[in-house]
Amino acid sequence: MIVNFLLNGKPQKIEIAPGDFLLDTLKAIGVTSVRRGCETSSCGVCTVLMNGAPVLSCSLLSARVEGQTITTVEGVADEISKIADHFGDEGADQCGFCNSGIALAAFALKTQKPNATDEDIKDALSGHLCRCSGYQSQVKAIRKYLGDPS
Ligand code: FES
Ligand code: FES
Repeated sequence: MIVNFLLNGKPQKIEIAPGDFLLDTLKAIGVTSVRRGCETSSCGVCTVLMNGAPVLSCSLLSARVEGQTITTVEGVADEISKIADHFGDEGADQCGFCNSGIALAAFALKTQKPNATDEDIKDALSGHLCRCSGYQSQVKAIRKYLGDPS
């Protein structure tokens, strides 16, 4: 079957099998930023945005993206670069494996809830596992990305 969707602003027309997951479809067409972790909807590293909202690509059937808009790190590189700078400043980029998923969650939060509270930030981070930190550094970095210098 064929699935049509917008990926980072570019139309895609891709042959898929009915049971394919978006993570595999994106990797098959050369998207390198999306990471493969647990593949059981538990770690968040495979996060992409569908119509601006975070989704787990390891558990989203590729057929479900027909007519939808998918965004990966490559599509919002300037914003991700700003987030990465804050991660660096706050010591939130250690091994970095979790960062692309968390950065997309932070970008989605900025677009959907620019006046987010710390509780909103923690909600946005829920489902994103980080083996290296206690999450405080990510919360502080995202708070600064959202414009709060404290
Ligand atoms: S790889 Fe998708 S949630 Fe872990
Ligand atoms: S920085 Fe290593 S898993 Fe988060």
